[in-house]
Amino acid sequence: MPSETRKFDLIVLGAGAAGLMCAAVAGQRGCRVLLLEHNAQPGRKILISGGGRCNFTNIHCMPANFISENPHFAKSALALYQPRHFLELVERYGIRWHEKTLGQLFCDHSARQIVDMLLVECERGQVDIRMNVRGVRVESTSGEFRVGCPAGEFTAGALVIATGGLSIPKMGATGLAYDLARQFGLKVIQPRPALVPLLLAGAEKSWTELAGVSADVIAHANRGPMFREKLLVTHRGLSGPAVLQASSYWRPGEAIQVDFAPDLNGKSSLLASLLERGARRDALALKQALRDVLPQRLAAQLAEAGAPEGWSNAAIEAAERRVRGWEFRPSGTEGFEKAEVTAGGVDTAELDSKTMEARTVPGLYFIGEGVDVTGHLGGFNFQWAWASAVAAASNL
Ligand code: FDA
Repeated sequence: MPSETRKFDLIVLGAGAAGLMCAAVAGQRGCRVLLLEHNAQPGRKILISGGGRCNFTNIHCMPANFISENPHFAKSALALYQPRHFLELVERYGIRWHEKTLGQLFCDHSARQIVDMLLVECERGQVDIRMNVRGVRVESTSGEFRVGCPAGEFTAGALVIATGGLSIPKMGATGLAYDLARQFGLKVIQPRPALVPLLLAGAEKSWTELAGVSADVIAHANRGPMFREKLLVTHRGLSGPAVLQASSYWRPGEAIQVDFAPDLNGKSSLLASLLERGARRDALALKQALRDVLPQRLAAQLAEAGAPEGWSNAAIEAAERRVRGWEFRPSGTEGFEKAEVTAGGVDTAELDSKTMEARTVPGLYFIGEGVDVTGHLGGFNFQWAWASAVAAASNL
């Protein structure tokens, strides 16, 4: 490919959710935009998201749905570009959608429609999109950014880094956003896998014999909120939406708590039947009481692992408390290979919350997952990608 040198108003690195959105909006505002992507196709994560239907936003989106060292940082961008704005765009393109649960909006048909929509939006903004662009280097001289790659050298007065986090390396995830932040002297909060299955080892390994069993639970990690959703036992540990949500708050060495009987099927107490005068108090009676609210294999596991020591009232009440706050001590996570997102990232203290511009490097912007803002499961991460992209593009 012949080498070329060209000048743009804006160069965007990364044609994922945030990069496509930012390039499209900036282009439509009159900027000459170059969008560089190292994969052969844009928006690969959008394509696989939401089981191929893309959970593109959440109508209940609030700052409390995001994790960051600075919980206030995301507020401005989220207020500027809200779920209804993205929904308006989706509807303008005639993309049919539905609410699945808990405010989560999905395409009826295919996530491909979201990528196609963003590509048409880029076309409307006359964005120059280059795929298969590997090995980009960035330099900055006298207020201009110079991006070099095998295809040539490109310059612009503004540079947006939208290369995402470390999750799912086989889909093209790299740490470029963090490397560039450090290159420009910006602090990075240690990236860590989030929305990720947890591993069980040692005495807790026996739980994995229940692989495939799921239950409606309330789960939470020490510093996190409660999540009432499904827990799924896997061959390696725990997963399912409730555990994925809790995992974003979990840190190595800590426990996660699980309430296995969140609504007791209308009973006031889970083990009330054992406390009745003259009632049987043994392993079988315990298993039977647990089976009233839990799948059979889970009831058997809890009855075995959580049997009261002696069968006094106090011991039975303690056993009930244990089932309602079961403590797992995960040995780790399934790592970036399986994590839906990356928590941590470019320190928000380095960025202007209204524009995503680096405070100390005019013209340099970080958006999307590369920033230390991580959404809960349920469409929040895409909403952050759209909102942070529009915040940056609106400043150009
Ligand atoms: P994103 O990862 O989308 O884009 C970054 C782009 O930069 C990629 O195209 C990448 O190839 C490119 N890039 C990286 N390094 C580069 C380099 N060195 N040079 C050039 N280009 C480079 N969220 C949600 O809200 N709803 C959902 O339904 C789902 N579902 C889901 C399923 C699965 C399996 C995963 C892994 C993730 C989700 N997510 C999600 C999370 C969501 O996909 C994620 O938060 C957004 O895609 C983040 O958007 P970004 O644009 O920041 O990064």
